[in-house]
Amino acid sequence: MSPRSELFLLYPQEVGPAEHTDEFLESSMQIQTDVSQQKRAKKRSKKSSKKTRAKKKTQAELADPHALYERAVQDPKTDAAALGKLYRRVRKRAAKLMREDFCGTGSLSAAWVNGGKERSAYGVDLDRPTLDWGLENNVAPMSAGLAKRITLVEGNVLTQRGPKADIACALNFSYCCLKDRKSLVTYFKNVRKNLAKDGVFVMDVLGGSDTMGPDENRHDLGGFTYRWKQHFFDPLTHDFRCTISFFFDDGSKISPAFEYDWRLWTMPELCDALEEAGFSGTHRMWEKTDKKGNGTGEFDEPKRVENQESWWTYLIAER
Ligand SMILES: C[S@@+](CC[C@H](N)C(=O)[O-])C[C@H]1O[C@@H](n2cnc3c(N)ncnc32)[C@H](O)[C@@H]1O
Repeated sequence: MSPRSELFLLYPQEVGPAEHTDEFLESSMQIQTDVSQQKRAKKRSKKSSKKTRAKKKTQAELADPHALYERAVQDPKTDAAALGKLYRRVRKRAAKLMREDFCGTGSLSAAWVNGGKERSAYGVDLDRPTLDWGLENNVAPMSAGLAKRITLVEGNVLTQRGPKADIACALNFSYCCLKDRKSLVTYFKNVRKNLAKDGVFVMDVLGGSDTMGPDENRHDLGGFTYRWKQHFFDPLTHDFRCTISFFFDDGSKISPAFEYDWRLWTMPELCDALEEAGFSGTHRMWEKTDKKGNGTGEFDEPKRVENQESWWTYLIAER
């Protein structure tokens, strides 16, 4: 009961029985009728404003986290082109079948098959709803000819078998969710099993002094702001907790949209684990820079580099 309706019920008792004349009762009834009408009108207006409020959803409520993630984090066309180039650099020919581990929405698989008539893709991810989103939004809109060259399967990358791929990849540092060496080596062994004899595995690696501590960066992407936040880094275990959030002009937010409980694997640890899993050799790539020190998008294999505040690069392993 609202405070206002309590007051209304008290009103006749306050005036007392002696004053209950016909005139008073009439006017009292009139007041009650008026107030009842007011109450009904108020209820109606409350209902209709509720309806209006229900209709007017916030930007965060209207947004699709997968679509925002793809816009903020991924550049599948560039990644697909880079993978093609890296394979060619090692094998001197074009790769056809790509296996995308931790494929999420399969946007890279879609970009891969788009990049060449002979290309096909096999994506693996644990999360059914994410795969379904990818099938609906990335695969279904393609022509039938392209779509039939993509297979997205629900499976665990530690065990999922598949066709022998020319190139396998684990991008956006997804393997960092495997936090102990045993799981990492088990994963690498499974990658190797599912590669063609001369197959190549490509992963990206994150590092630099700024990755080893709390940090955050924001990018206004027009319509929303993307935030990457590093909440915690433990130098003893390399436990690394991060989130991705999205902020909107109307003040609403999806925070966090995605959470990561990772181990920040270092380049030498990854190379050792790849060797233990049976890979015959590794290539530690580094992005070339122009005279001003800006990245050119071209990668080579230098003997020595200087550490930076923040960097990411490719690591290639030959089966
Ligand atoms: C950081 S997202 C990466 C998505 C996408 N590959 C990208 O480049 O942005 C990590 C994905 O890995 C999936 N994942 C985590 N552990 C997995 C496992 N053991 N096997 C298969 N997929 C896994 C999650 O469901 C999630 O979709």
